[in-house]
Amino acid sequence: MSLPKVSVIGAGQVGSMVAEHLAIKELADVYLFDVVDGAAKGKSLDMMEAMPHWKSDSTLEGYTVGPNGENYENLKESKIIVITAGLARKPGMSRDDLLYKNVDIVKSAAENVKKYSPNSIIIVVTNPMDIMTYTAYRIIGPEKYRIMGMGGTLDSGRFRTFVAKELGVSVDDVTAFVVGGHGDDMIPFVRYCSVGGIPLTELLSKEKIDAILARTRNGGGEIVSYLKTGSAYFAPGISITVMIESILKDKKRVVTAPAFLTGDTGKHYGVEGFFVGVPVKIGKNGVEEIYKLSFQPEERKLWDITAAHVKESVEKVNAYLHI
Ligand code: LAC
Repeated sequence: MSLPKVSVIGAGQVGSMVAEHLAIKELADVYLFDVVDGAAKGKSLDMMEAMPHWKSDSTLEGYTVGPNGENYENLKESKIIVITAGLARKPGMSRDDLLYKNVDIVKSAAENVKKYSPNSIIIVVTNPMDIMTYTAYRIIGPEKYRIMGMGGTLDSGRFRTFVAKELGVSVDDVTAFVVGGHGDDMIPFVRYCSVGGIPLTELLSKEKIDAILARTRNGGGEIVSYLKTGSAYFAPGISITVMIESILKDKKRVVTAPAFLTGDTGKHYGVEGFFVGVPVKIGKNGVEEIYKLSFQPEERKLWDITAAHVKESVEKVNAYLHI
């Protein structure tokens, strides 16, 4: 059986989850890469041995990446490459320490992507996500619409979950999205949230809505506070899979994702030359359209704050990479 090739760099919890979903859904042959000796190989073999039960003929292969990038040549001819490799914040580590460590990790992965599979579509998951997407772009670019981040799909799923639970309705009937940076100042977009077509603002009080917004913004943090030694991976894993499925099947799903903002669209958003989460259409060519949201004055203020935060970090990365 011949399936498209999807590579996943980083075989941690999130990377493994994506690999498993892709294989169970028989969407791709999956190639996993990790620097931890044997981790990608062991996990991919274990997942492949489950495929008879899922009735899937997807193949999974795992590679240990050596200190000089050994085995990255197996990225070649990937249709899509997901970058999840990176560190989580450890005690005593500042956000900036984490930023620079993950810039190093993503830079090295991106250099190998450029070397072995420069025409792939890239989905960056490593945090801080908007900035790591930018880092990958600076290495792999100039083609900008084949590179995107994952974040909005995850945050929008959290927003939909909390709305559905509060109202006691099916998650399937809640339309909602989150824009902005994938961080504390992301914007769950209340005005366009609807339940079976009814605006959320007609169904819940301001206090209840505000509580849902706060919980959505802190969605990742809430999971970390329970897990203590790790962060979310079930919802991130399926969110990445949704994006990959839309690309492989050219479904043209409309999701929110960090996308490269420039030109007219950049002007509209007040952003030039970096990635922030916005509504996009994704299909076989990657980001195929970026939608311009019209903001009310209050929403514009929130947008400017989140965009300014992403920009600050982009400037730090530019100084760090001397670009
Ligand atoms: C989250 C982290 C993984 O939102 O970014 O769960």
